[in-house]
Amino acid sequence: MKLKTIYICESCGHTAPKWLGKCPDCDAWNSFHEDVVAKDPKREHKGVAQSVQPLHQVKESDNRIPTNIGELDRVLGGGIIEGSLVLMSGEPGIGKSTLTLKLCEQIANVKQNVLYVSGEESVQQISLRAKRMGIQKENLGILGENSVENIMETLEAEKPDFVVIDSIQVMNTGASPSLAGSMSQIRACTEIFMTFAKQNNVPILIIGHVNKEGNLAGPKVLEHLVDTVLLIEGDRYQNLRVLRTVKNRYGSTNEIGLFEMTDTGLAEVRSASKLFLEGRKADAFGSAITAVVEGTRPLLLEVQALTSSTPFGYPKRAASGYDVNRLQLLLAVIQKHLRIDMSSHDVYVNVVGGFKVNDRSTDLAVIMAIISSLYKTALPQESLFIGEVGLSGELRSVPHLKKRIQEASKIGFSKIYTPPTKEKVTGLTPVAIEEIGQALKELSLKKSKTAKKSQTTSAHSPS
Ligand SMILES: Nc1ncnc2c1ncn2[C@@H]1O[C@H](COP(=O)(O)OP(=O)(O)OP(=O)(O)O)[C@@H](O)[C@H]1O
Ligand SMILES: [Mg+2]
Ligand SMILES: [Zn+2]
Repeated sequence: MKLKTIYICESCGHTAPKWLGKCPDCDAWNSFHEDVVAKDPKREHKGVAQSVQPLHQVKESDNRIPTNIGELDRVLGGGIIEGSLVLMSGEPGIGKSTLTLKLCEQIANVKQNVLYVSGEESVQQISLRAKRMGIQKENLGILGENSVENIMETLEAEKPDFVVIDSIQVMNTGASPSLAGSMSQIRACTEIFMTFAKQNNVPILIIGHVNKEGNLAGPKVLEHLVDTVLLIEGDRYQNLRVLRTVKNRYGSTNEIGLFEMTDTGLAEVRSASKLFLEGRKADAFGSAITAVVEGTRPLLLEVQALTSSTPFGYPKRAASGYDVNRLQLLLAVIQKHLRIDMSSHDVYVNVVGGFKVNDRSTDLAVIMAIISSLYKTALPQESLFIGEVGLSGELRSVPHLKKRIQEASKIGFSKIYTPPTKEKVTGLTPVAIEEIGQALKELSLKKSKTAKKSQTTSAHSPS
């Protein structure tokens, strides 16, 4: 077999005969890596006609194996489909192996034979983790191996009902001439596993690392190959882990699963809203609570804002867990419609708990948190703010308002400020807000005396 050297873009899989600094396809910088492929791969030129099935005669097999981990089932759309290839991805050390081992235990409850193949850790290391997590299963087998050929032979012999490959980056196959960990290796290995999964109707879960930029270390091409891509996110130094579906051929992609890292593994978070509101100081300035909806689930979040006078020049705006462009826009709305001069204030916004919000319904809460910090006045503890804010300061309705109100009322919020709505929840009528100035009036928010002293007089002058 003659070999040749090519260069592959790590983020999109574009190939070039020479090294390039910038990918012409996806514009990524410094993303090309050397790889070796066969020069003239032998192709079968002669095909054989296949029989075609009429669609209505095809026997559908939507056989899902429930994982019985509620948060995982929610993300998968009810369980793992037989014969599907699932990719579990996440940054190093985030908890991929831990969650997967837990999953193996659950599947071993309903299936005969589960096999966990690890090319990264020894059998003893996995056994230690299993002990720590309290997992004891006779029909859960462990194999330390990274040759795909050996694994395939083992699968033929053992005939497992569910297989885990930890991780795809350390697997290697003789089918590809390049080095282990290279892109053509990863792709070749994945293709072998996929063929096995489809032909034998055995679900396979492969674990893959992602690098700092969030790209799968290995080609994005991997995402096209598999049926489902799960991503574990979170701050490694905090306990919350968010499980998302990036792609799902058999279910919705907007559900999230919430887990908490404990010393016995990843525990499901049952009451997420309580978790996010933990440690909240009742009379703090610049804090507002809002309700967002992720998939089908409502969540209460705390938005914090901090304003301070700009020492000189250009005011700074920064946000964590929130879109800074959206923040700029809301500040312009405050400036124009509340006639508060923001040009002399730095503004920082933070969503507590390491959660990233994309939901526009947080607009009102962000504005209220900023005003609360600016006026050094805490917002009433039982109040909650929902609503998208338009450019003329008007409040716009948001989807699933009833769900949000219900969740807030369940946690004990009694004053819920929303865009005008007919939704009611027993014992609670939302306070209808038509434009943001009205919210300030309802809460009788005015600059406090201490605020007057410390802040510039321009803070309330018309723009
Ligand atoms: N003894 C322990 N007590 C509590 N938490 C632990 C303990 N050991 C490990 N952990 C947690 O488990 C995490 C590592 O989990 P895991 O090995 O499943 O991650 P991973 O994503 O598979 O990592 P890698 O990329 O290295 O394979 C650690 O970051 C830590 O938070
Ligand atoms: Mg691991
Ligand atoms: Zn590219």
